[in-house]
Amino acid sequence: MHNPQRVSIHFPHRLPKRKDILMRKLLLVLLVLALTVPAGVALADGHEFDCGTDEAVTIKFFGDPVGNYPEAEDRIISRFNEVCPNITVERNDGAANVTDLIAFYLTAFEAESSDLDVIRVDVIWPGQLAEHLIDLNGIAPQAHIDAQMPALIDNNTIDGRLVALPLRIGFGMLYYRTDLVEKYGYAGPPATWDELEEMAAAIQAGERAEGNDEFWGFVWQGNAYEGLTCDALEWHVSATGENFLQSDGTISALSDAAVEIYEQAAGWVGTISPPGVVGYQEEDSRAVWHAGNAAFMRNWPYAYSRSQASDDIPAFDVAALPAGDSGMGASTLGGWHIGVSKYSEHPEAAAAFAIFLTSVESQKDFAVFTSNPPGAVELYSDPELIEAMPFIRPDLAEVTTARPSNFSKDRYNAVSTLYFNAIHSILTGEEDAAVALELLELDIADLFDM
Ligand code: GLC
Repeated sequence: MHNPQRVSIHFPHRLPKRKDILMRKLLLVLLVLALTVPAGVALADGHEFDCGTDEAVTIKFFGDPVGNYPEAEDRIISRFNEVCPNITVERNDGAANVTDLIAFYLTAFEAESSDLDVIRVDVIWPGQLAEHLIDLNGIAPQAHIDAQMPALIDNNTIDGRLVALPLRIGFGMLYYRTDLVEKYGYAGPPATWDELEEMAAAIQAGERAEGNDEFWGFVWQGNAYEGLTCDALEWHVSATGENFLQSDGTISALSDAAVEIYEQAAGWVGTISPPGVVGYQEEDSRAVWHAGNAAFMRNWPYAYSRSQASDDIPAFDVAALPAGDSGMGASTLGGWHIGVSKYSEHPEAAAAFAIFLTSVESQKDFAVFTSNPPGAVELYSDPELIEAMPFIRPDLAEVTTARPSNFSKDRYNAVSTLYFNAIHSILTGEEDAAVALELLELDIADLFDM
């Protein structure tokens, strides 16, 4: 029997513990680096690129079906075909729902299936998937590895094995309609969740009074899946200054500040957010926003280029997510990397494609096309990239927070599932916040035998 007191933390102060807000300064450091690293793009020279094999083979790649990622991936596959014509890449849409995707991978890997050759690996999964992925150290050229953000290479190195090559990073941002913020007399985006709530309600009431019955104040990701872990972690850290599971294993799910913020979020459902938000994933919230029917949206960088492509959004900008009682906002670190299955029948060809896809040249094309920040450091000083992503700014960069995947390793998926189910039960009103959080602490402690 463990003592719940032992795993509960009381907050003597409200400032974030820096070591637990991992990577919070990651992008800020990059911005500084960008000033010192000369601009330039290393081109993958078709003649020098090592295709790994001369045999004619077909490999299967599981890509991202969200936003314009399928087109972005197809562009790179076409170029790879020119460089390595003997290798055919068959692109499959992996699941958009990350929780479904990990279940699919694990089922296939446990059966040692050779159906997956190259897969996209969420930033939270290296520890979860390491045993099923090949070590890319010694296969990827050292210069290729050195071109990536060191924090990502660390994240993807499990017991000395480099199990995935960085492709892109993500972080939660607040999208807001600048035209409406101005129309309703506000000076700028909300700085706190309370301000967001007030502004969202006023804009929603005004737009509805003018005849748009479908208008909502704030859309976000409330489905019971990994995306809710991302949104809820932002609320949690902004309110308490701590991760719900810290890097030393301290569980900080339950506190007065946490109860308060989750209750506040539950209050948005059906008021400033659609009742259906508790079933929303990224693309559901983006659909409402894209149609011009939301004042605020929490989403990832890919939604920036998609919003520019909408005819129904007269004007928008992005801001840091609002602050809670800790005095700071928080933005969950996301992103995707590329791994090669240990059960692939064509590991050389698969590795060659993984290397090509994550080359600086491919990352640049991918980043500019999708407005998704890359993993390669030198691109952050590239003028085309800066133009495509004006949101790479210190105020957004300094609040990046990692999910507790480095601590949880192969139990991350289980931890996250406990977390998003607990938060979902609060949002739907099934469970009282204090009870749900106390049970969550007990369940996490059990999972780690604490
Ligand atoms: C985005 C992020 C990823 C996260 C997912 C949750 O794809 O890049 O890290 O797990 O959203 O839905």
